Amino acid sequence: MDKIEIEGGISLTGEVSISGAKNAALPVMAASILSSGENLIYNVPRLRDISTFGKLLAYLGMGYHQENGEVILDSTNISSIEAPYDFVKTMRASVLVLGPLLARTGEAKVSLPGGCAIGARPINLHIMGLEKMGAEITLTEGYIHAKAKRLKGAVVYFDMPTVTGTENLMMAGTLADGETVLENAACEPEVVDLANALISMGANIRGAGTSIVRINGVSSLRPLDYRIIPDRIETGTFLAGAAITGGDVRINNCSTEHVEAIINKLRETGTVITFKGDTLHVKGPDKLVAEDIKTMPYPGFPTDMQAQFMALMTLAEGTSLITENIFENRFMHVAELRRMGADIRVEGSIAKVKGVKSLKGAPVMATDLRASASLVVAGLAAQGTTIIDRVYHIDRGYQGIEEKLKLLGAKIRRVKG
Ligand code: EPU
Repeated sequence: MDKIEIEGGISLTGEVSISGAKNAALPVMAASILSSGENLIYNVPRLRDISTFGKLLAYLGMGYHQENGEVILDSTNISSIEAPYDFVKTMRASVLVLGPLLARTGEAKVSLPGGCAIGARPINLHIMGLEKMGAEITLTEGYIHAKAKRLKGAVVYFDMPTVTGTENLMMAGTLADGETVLENAACEPEVVDLANALISMGANIRGAGTSIVRINGVSSLRPLDYRIIPDRIETGTFLAGAAITGGDVRINNCSTEHVEAIINKLRETGTVITFKGDTLHVKGPDKLVAEDIKTMPYPGFPTDMQAQFMALMTLAEGTSLITENIFENRFMHVAELRRMGADIRVEGSIAKVKGVKSLKGAPVMATDLRASASLVVAGLAAQGTTIIDRVYHIDRGYQGIEEKLKLLGAKIRRVKG
């Protein structure tokens, strides 16, 4: 297994370019199931999760090809309606094929995802919504088996906003008979990007990005020719890396409006951030100031940036309270940050982080994607060498993270396992 080794203590300086958003690219790739023909998707990041999803679509009978940032998906033939356990267990986002497969073929069989490192993550709301739309759903031998000749428009109220749940039902609604109304829908930029992609295919969708989304079913959709938005979490992670090292970095190719919550919080820590067009300029302070955060659905502070912000707070002056409201077990990085000298106490969903003078490099273990990003952020600022094990987690969501950090002056290298 590969490891990443970082010699900390160097201020990041220079320019970095942000890749396409993983969590937007995955549902847009799933949307190609709804068409018949050659789908072109641009600005797709080169990541493990993307190739896993491409292989799943190939398993369903589609043509899949990725060259650099371009993905070509031929959806002329769908020969299987099953997403097997082997795919779903490596990537929960595989469940995104459920809505579009059912809408296109009238049937879908998708392995039920189990819990994961950050929480139980049920998909009851996806199932409830599809049932409201007339699907007959049975749960047998670990699989969700859904059938519907043609889905019918319905009003679906989510008890809590769910990103992939909103995406699954939005895709299902595009080919349904009549109007589907999603209430208390997720407002994340990735949901809006999927809606824009579907609209470019001929779908009739209004309200994406608000809590009420209306989808009027159409009889068919044309293939995609679509460019994915920049990754706001990768952007936030580089902002955190520059802030913690007192660096001076230009971050190019970002959607600045998607990172407002992150920017506002970082400014409170003394980090100076300005922007022009799609470029952010970040200057880390000599000494960070502690600031509290609470993770919330968009436009609140994203749970996917909680771990990286916590790494920052380990070196801030004062005490920071970090409340995780979305996932019940998303503090796995705490024990690892403590091994580097951080002073963190967890009570329920709140972590109390008392800033320390310095972090010390140590061997640490990546437990999930964003936790591993927080260890990289901490390692950049720590004294001495940090060795991060199980970096396959990072490869799922950050394209070429060590090359990008090297260009910013970091002493970072991959040790092949
Ligand atoms: N929930 C339910 N029932 C459902 C669906 C969700 O109770 O049927 C709960 C979840 O357990 C959680 C909350 O609702 O407590 C929100 O979960 P959501 O469904 O929004 O999460 P998701 O769609 O599974 C996506 C991202 C995650 C990101 C979350 C929250 C993708 C592929 N994944 O997951 O990204 O953390 O939204 O913003 O879009 C990551 O990239 O590292 C990552 C984990």
